[in-house]
Amino acid sequence: MTTLSLSDQAIAILRGNDRGGYTVPTEGLYPYQWNWDSAFAAYGFAEFDLPRAWQEIETLFSGQWQNGMVPHILFHQKDDGYFPGPDVWGTDKCSGNAVSSSGISQPPVAATFTRALFEKDIAFGKEKLEALFDKFVAWHGWFMRHRGESGAICVTHPWESGRDNAADWDAAMANVDASNVGDYTRRDTSHVNPEMRPTKRDYDVYLAILYFARDNGWDEQRILDDGLFRVADPTLTFTLLRANRDLKWMGEQLGRDVSEIDGWIVALEEGVKSLWNEDIGCYDAKDLRTGLFAGNVTSAAFLCWYAGIDDKRMLPHLERFLIASPHAVASLDPTSPHYNPKRYWRGPVWVIVNTLIGIGLEDAGYRSEAERIRSDCARLIEGGGFAEYFDPEDGTPAGGGVFTWTAASWLAWVSKDPKEA
Ligand code: GLC
Repeated sequence: MTTLSLSDQAIAILRGNDRGGYTVPTEGLYPYQWNWDSAFAAYGFAEFDLPRAWQEIETLFSGQWQNGMVPHILFHQKDDGYFPGPDVWGTDKCSGNAVSSSGISQPPVAATFTRALFEKDIAFGKEKLEALFDKFVAWHGWFMRHRGESGAICVTHPWESGRDNAADWDAAMANVDASNVGDYTRRDTSHVNPEMRPTKRDYDVYLAILYFARDNGWDEQRILDDGLFRVADPTLTFTLLRANRDLKWMGEQLGRDVSEIDGWIVALEEGVKSLWNEDIGCYDAKDLRTGLFAGNVTSAAFLCWYAGIDDKRMLPHLERFLIASPHAVASLDPTSPHYNPKRYWRGPVWVIVNTLIGIGLEDAGYRSEAERIRSDCARLIEGGGFAEYFDPEDGTPAGGGVFTWTAASWLAWVSKDPKEA
């Protein structure tokens, strides 16, 4: 019997999770196409099958709404193993698109990874990008219009941040009346240990927020004015700022007018300043309904470098996280009272977020910090496989297994020689 190398295993995971033009994050737990998972998948596919990588981005945009939004889940084919499915979201009448989907978006990392695809073969990239460029502009424009009012980018649902149960949302979620959600059956807890998943109260609130938006026909203005949840988010703000820089660069390669994108970059460079919480000396989530900061140091704050903002005030926090956990970077400050090394976004290490942090650190010239993160991720995968996330203390793999984006991160960043990454 031959033992497959980790790269061969990662390729097999991407191929195995391929459902014909798009990949599922993992079989069972997440049976549809997820937005930022797909962008990572493309980044991974580009290491061994560039046309397939572009196809992943194309299928992602096949679900784009008429208003420009690219949904966080595309329900290409029905699967009863997932809740809440297409009938719960009820978006079919308002999306202007035949592909069923959720009604919110997710962190826009797609333009950044599309640039990575583009740079692998510029001639092929130009051909592919011609058809996609305006769609990206429409999506980023949707964020600026419907999520950018405060200067930073906000989420109207915790799921929009990609960090479902992060401590960032606790205070805002505590204000949500979820008494009317009725009975429902979760599916996630039949795939994964409930101790690692969001709580029942979390799920009640997720549904209450969703139902409000659905019952208001997914009307963006109504959701912003009267919706149950509106929190400015470092993940969305930093990833969109970076994505705009990469989109601008690609637009220039195509000879397009990029002045509008330039305006967005300037606006977001200013907007991120509104996320600085003086009390904790860190970028933080801010509840736009109450004006209050969440008060947590999370891994999302370390995306400043990824966004092109070399903020030296963030370095001591990073050093602290690197010292606190043998397997860094934890998703929540290990000294926080809310920290839990096994519960999803409240402590565990996510290789994908670490990849984004590492890319940013490398770009900014912080090589030794980037290397520490790369080698920690490599050790976690070598020891625990391509899990959804890991315990920062003992490195135990947790959540779902055979994860597309963990495999993709391995192929495109973690396993790379730093000189070629
Ligand atoms: C969870 C994660 C989210 C991810 C999705 C599919 O909801 O929090 O970031 O996109 O699973 O993997």
